[in-house]
Amino acid sequence: MSGKDDRQQFLADVISGLQSTPRSVPCKYLYDARGSALFDAICRTEDYYVTRADLALHDRHLPEICDRIGPQAHIIEFGSGSGLKTRRLLERLQQPRAYTPIEISAAALEASINDLQADLPHIEIQPVQADYTNDIPDRHFQLVPPAKRRVVYFPGSTIGNFDHAEAIAFLQRMRHIAGDSGAVLIGVDLLKPESTLLHAYDDAEGITSEFNRNLLIRMQRELDARVDIDAFRHEARFNRKLSRVEMHLVATRRTNIEIDGQRFEFAPGESIHTENSYKYTIDGFRTLASEANLQSLQVWTDPEELFSMHWLGAI
Ligand code: TRP
Repeated sequence: MSGKDDRQQFLADVISGLQSTPRSVPCKYLYDARGSALFDAICRTEDYYVTRADLALHDRHLPEICDRIGPQAHIIEFGSGSGLKTRRLLERLQQPRAYTPIEISAAALEASINDLQADLPHIEIQPVQADYTNDIPDRHFQLVPPAKRRVVYFPGSTIGNFDHAEAIAFLQRMRHIAGDSGAVLIGVDLLKPESTLLHAYDDAEGITSEFNRNLLIRMQRELDARVDIDAFRHEARFNRKLSRVEMHLVATRRTNIEIDGQRFEFAPGESIHTENSYKYTIDGFRTLASEANLQSLQVWTDPEELFSMHWLGAI
């Protein structure tokens, strides 16, 4: 897609989001270059426990996870595989057959492959440049000779950013790629006391707030929107009924956003909903997985039980 098309899409999504009730903008627009750098900084804060817990889980259970995967496996990662966890997994695995990162950005894909291949010269890397939220033809994953089994690997907590219907569709797609004899290894953040969650999504250093407000900066810069950025503050809310943390940009006073000849009025307290992060109990995620015809066969957690990793097999 050209830069012009990207801008048109961003504009159309922002306008339709501001026209709907409640107002929202798709979360993918949080992640431009500055947004991605801010997100990396969030992952290093004391309050955002997710990254730390996920790493602690891998430290603690990597040998067991690798035993479960077994030899001659084809690891297919949803994401670029630039992470430390992927590297440790691949280093530790018994005779991995091949590794396939799936990544939408060609540049990110190339950079991560180059790094990985330099450190792990013996592993066969068969990258796929694609948007993993769409179906990907199976020929991209075929190997000669074939692997003993496929394992679809999705570390991190991204599954939590989908609503239930989307998460089920996504898990079904993973199951399809893994095949009947394959498995899915997926990270899932756990439900925990509200105060811990709210601190994680509104860190004391104010980085999450900058990350969320970066959306308004993008609208100003890329869409020529007229917006008083100081009239909006970041807010993390826990929606208990839906078991999710919601990120909002809340108007602190009467204000408006003008964009492409349209004017959107905000009363104090009115918000733009920018992101959800669903939190699951272990059983709650088991139930979700079963709706995608996947059975949770084993669950690992970090020592503090903040984060989990499910091993899912086809039913
Ligand atoms: N996948 C991350 C999560 O849900 C994304 C995230 C972390 C996020 N902090 C955020 C998204 C703040 C929006 C705002 O934990």
